[in-house]
Amino acid sequence: MNIAVFASGSGSNFQAIIDRVHSGDLPITISLLVGNNSKAKCFDRAREANIPTLHISPSHFETENEYADVLLAKLEETQVDLIVLAGYMKMLPTRLTATYRDRMINIHPSLLPLFGGHGMYGMNVHTAVKAAGVKISGVTIHAVTEIYDEGPILYQASVPVYESDTPEEIADRVLVCEHDSYWRVIKALAGKEISIENGLVRGTVRI
Ligand code: GRF
Repeated sequence: MNIAVFASGSGSNFQAIIDRVHSGDLPITISLLVGNNSKAKCFDRAREANIPTLHISPSHFETENEYADVLLAKLEETQVDLIVLAGYMKMLPTRLTATYRDRMINIHPSLLPLFGGHGMYGMNVHTAVKAAGVKISGVTIHAVTEIYDEGPILYQASVPVYESDTPEEIADRVLVCEHDSYWRVIKALAGKEISIENGLVRGTVRI
């Protein structure tokens, strides 16, 4: 399986996937990193691991269609089987989500449908978790559809939220869980233990 990872920032999830490929735990090929900010750390991580990169941003184009043309051509040329969103902060062109329907996944740092949707990214999520006073939070890995944070869920894992936690402490605990979760789901998809067919998830991720 060839995957393309889309990232905008630090790329610690991207790194966790790279590490599992290098250790032999995850038998796939990371064929491409796509990112909108070439100065972001995720690009350093790609260079370090010899992974080809595509620096592309909607702001480089006059229309969404031109943006989609370049992006889709590159993904096609690279023969990407699965798009893995890992902290990608830009809007995706509708043609991309349509073309890669059932072949694009995302990771979100809460137990969706809780703490998802508009404005729920980064520390906003963990601040809201803290304010709600819930006892658990966690990670959701879901298929990507046109509706933000609403695609079918492939996998969730929870972490405790302690009363004394700051939002930063919740974020750290969730991130550790993210790093231990994403590669397992990619492996399960590559090994066909789970599949996404017409927006429906089948199978089980075995931990
Ligand atoms: C993660 O919390 C992920 O759940 C969210 O964006 C963050 C990316 O972090 N979608 P990193 O760049 O992988 O460190």
